[in-house]
Order: sequence, then C-alpha cells, then structure tokens
Amino acid sequence: MIETSARVTIATVIEEFVREELSAENAHIAAAVAEMLDAGGKHLRPRITMLSSRACESGAAEDAVLAAYMEMIHVATLIHDDVVDNADVRRGVQSTNSAFGNRFSVLAGDYLFSWVFKKVTQSYPQPVPTILAAMLAEICNGEVRQLRAEGNADLPESAYAEIIGKKTAELFAACAECGAIVAVAAKRAHSGADVRDMQRVKALRAYGWSFGMAFQVRDDLLDAIADEGALGKPAGSDLREKKVTLPLINALRSGGPPVRAAVDRLFAHDDAGAPEAENDLAAVVEAIRNGHAVELTIASIERYASAAETALLALAPSEARDELSALARSLTEIGRP
Ligand code: IPE
Ligand code: IPE
Ligand code: MG
Ligand code: MG
Repeated sequence: MIETSARVTIATVIEEFVREELSAENAHIAAAVAEMLDAGGKHLRPRITMLSSRACESGAAEDAVLAAYMEMIHVATLIHDDVVDNADVRRGVQSTNSAFGNRFSVLAGDYLFSWVFKKVTQSYPQPVPTILAAMLAEICNGEVRQLRAEGNADLPESAYAEIIGKKTAELFAACAECGAIVAVAAKRAHSGADVRDMQRVKALRAYGWSFGMAFQVRDDLLDAIADEGALGKPAGSDLREKKVTLPLINALRSGGPPVRAAVDRLFAHDDAGAPEAENDLAAVVEAIRNGHAVELTIASIERYASAAETALLALAPSEARDELSALARSLTEIGRP
C-alpha cells in the first residue's frame, strides 16, 4: 500500500531518534520501541502527513520529521491499546505488554507521548501543538467510550461511529491537517490559529477524518473475516473482547433474533475468549460471514472512502492529490475469505 522510498525515510528518521536520543535517555524504552519498529507497520499516518503537505502547496517539501512524530504517536497509542485490549500479538510479533508487561507498557507509552510533545512544542508553532494535544484527548475519550460499550449488543451504529471517529479518525485528520499547515507555513511564512480556516487545510482535515473512518471500519471487518497470517494480530479479537463493531451491528440488524441469541450467548460468558466460549464465538463469526453483514460493512467503507476522495476535490490537481485519492480507494479492496 505504501511506496518504498517514503517507508525507508520514515523508518530512518525514527531509528535515528531511537539511537541518538531515546537510547541515551531510557535504554529499556528505546529497545521496546525498536522492536515495534523492526516488526514493520504500514506507515500510513506519516505517508498521509507528507502527501498532505504536497497536495496543499505545490512544490512544498515533505516534513519527514513531523511525519515521524505522527508515527511515534501512533506507536504509543498501539502500545496502550494492546494493554487495554489484552492483545498479545502486534505486527505479527509479541505485543509490548506481552513481552514486557502492562506496567512497563503504560510507562513506555506515556514516555513516548511526552517525548513527542516535547519535540513538537520546541519546533512547531501553533496551531500544531494544540491540534495534537486535542487529538490525543479525543483518542482517550474514544477508547473510554469503547470500554463502556463493551458487551452492549444494543449499541447503535451512531455510537459506534462516534467511538471510531475519536479513537482512529482524529489521528488521521490531525496528520492531514498538520501536514497541510506546515506546508503553508513553509511556503507563505504564514502560521497562527487562522490557518485552520483555509479551505485547503479544511479539505485535507476532512479527507483525513473520512479516511480514518473507512480505515477503522475496514480493520473491524478484517478482524471478523480475515486470518491471523494476513492481519499480524489474532482474528476474532474484537468479539473475544466483547467489542461491538460495525460488522456485528450489521449482522444483528440483518440476521434478526437467531443472531441476537448467538451474540447474547457469547456475551454471557465472563470471558468470551475462554475455550468454553469457542462454539458461541464460532456461531457469531459465521453469522457475520454468511449473512449480509459483510456487504453492508463494505458499503460503509465505500461511503467513507468516497467522502475522503470528494474532500480532495477542493484542492488543485496534483500527483500528491491523486496518491491520497488512490490510498482512500485502496481501503475498499477487501479480500474475502
Ligand atoms: C492499527 O493501525 C490501529 C488501528 C487504528 C486499527 P495500523 O493497521 O495502521 O497499524 P500498523 O502501524 O500498520 O501496524
Ligand atoms: C485501534 O483500535 C485504535 C487505537 C490504537 C487507539 P483497535 O483496537 O481496533 O486496533 P487493533 O485492532 O488493536 O489494531
Ligand atoms: Mg486493539
Ligand atoms: Mg481492531
């Protein structure tokens, strides 16, 4: 999904931070971050940050350092997310909590957030620091709302959309917006809060937000229908955690009382991931795969991806704009099992 040269640049910038700064400050955290980086990752957020700079201002340079900070924020959210979700596998290898424990992971995530914020506030004028701080608060709000919705088979689709908007789309929106803002600042020596009102900055933020929505719905669909080899994380984890996502909401909506009964049986287990819950889990996975849930969920991904592409029409045509558009479109390609 991602062009090789951009991937190398981001990996190099982050590796330098780890080698030259984090290692001297805290060797244990540096080692844990290095393991996450070695395991890969698609580098979508830094890619969107850099493409947004170019799509906003023709001839603007890409800011690989800002992009690397965005990826580091993402890595810190993954470290915390795996603690919250009890996830043992991330990027095809042991998650940080599984390798080093929850207590270390909480501190490592906090450290990374603080480190990035120290660097950003030193190097970027407003509104970039405020956008990042507000985004991180929304991610926490989304994760807490998601916790509170656990096991609620009546969760409305609107509440699900609000959760994923906060926990996932806000970060993509901030990547696109900040990528645009630094391009405007570099090209026109213009910064300050009012830069957020510029039409192309708003368009890129809207792109990032819709992209993030499509991305999370896709992640939730793949959790239900793909296998661990393809995902780099265990399939069916959301149901094991009693997480109510759009594929399940769609299965409940289209499958009627038999699906509801299967979901109620699964959620009645204290631990839906326990071996005695396996049959009930398999029944719900079947209900998602065999009814209309998959096509309904793909239709949602298509709507969000189209909204992302439509937002780009406010920008002047450019290669970067085409690449952003192609990235959004690629989210609609779902390999069915
Ligand atoms: C995982 O994001 C977290 C979600 C928002 C679903 P990615 O799938 O982009 O994770 P990496 O960085 O490629 O591992
Ligand atoms: C990811 O949500 C959101 C954040 C990392 C904040 P998920 O819990 O669905 O992501 P995965 O499935 O663990 O990658
Ligand atoms: Mg998770
Ligand atoms: Mg997931």
